[in-house]
Amino acid sequence: MIRFISFEGGDGSGKSTQLELLAGYLSRQGISCLSTREPGGTNLGKMLRKVLLELRDEPISPETELFLYLADRAQHVQEVIEPAMAAGKLVLCDRFTDSTLAYQGYGRGVDLDALSRMNAIASRGVVPDLTFLLDCPVEVGLSRTQTRSSSHASRAAAKGKAEDRFEREGALFHEQVRRGFLELAQADLARIVVIDAARSIASIQQEIVMIVEQKLATRHSAK
Ligand code: ADP
Ligand code: TYD
Repeated sequence: MIRFISFEGGDGSGKSTQLELLAGYLSRQGISCLSTREPGGTNLGKMLRKVLLELRDEPISPETELFLYLADRAQHVQEVIEPAMAAGKLVLCDRFTDSTLAYQGYGRGVDLDALSRMNAIASRGVVPDLTFLLDCPVEVGLSRTQTRSSSHASRAAAKGKAEDRFEREGALFHEQVRRGFLELAQADLARIVVIDAARSIASIQQEIVMIVEQKLATRHSAK
């Protein structure tokens, strides 16, 4: 039975694009789903997102950053994710706990075991049934985000997608994050499916739909 799917990966790997395509596909199949994201899935979260991504000159320590992401998650799980799951919706979430492990853990160097415990508190033990890790070389993702912020400047700004604090980080930071995601996937093969995100949007979508269809078929036959 799948009730919660998360999309993870580096900046510009195509998470939002694939989440939107999957949501469209599922609603055409008559499956009721809810699309959401972190940070910023609640009104409080939108404020936290602004602080997290748009701070320029103000210093922010790794621990401060971590607690803001966890605050966003705690509110999001209680206000949006749990009620949607309880109402029988299939929740599709753009980033979740694995992003904290990859960015604050592998990227910023916060202790991974401590992060797992804090993730469990913030998410109230909610774990995705399935996670797509969209993996591509760092430079591919970053060049996509640059195209996104320059050529669609007004649309990007409207979505809060102008180049953010993380997109301005160096390549080494993003390489550590990528390695982190891949290690997390290796350690949880039953939940995390690695998708080669350097391919075309259509072929990635095909693979994702096929995997979700298989999971949904398992759900129906298990009933
Ligand atoms: P993310 O949510 O992972 O940051 P997006 O879905 O916003 O990534 O995609 C970033 C940019 O790259 C967008 O302009 C999108 O249209 C484009 N894009 C997404 N997936 C692909 C792909 N497979 N190939 C080429 N461009 C892509
Ligand atoms: P997002 O808007 O998904 O960025 P993008 O669309 O470019 O992939 O997420 C904003 C940033 O927040 C992203 O760079 C990753 C970071 N992040 C963390 O560092 N920790 C977290 O727990 C989460 C959820 C996101």
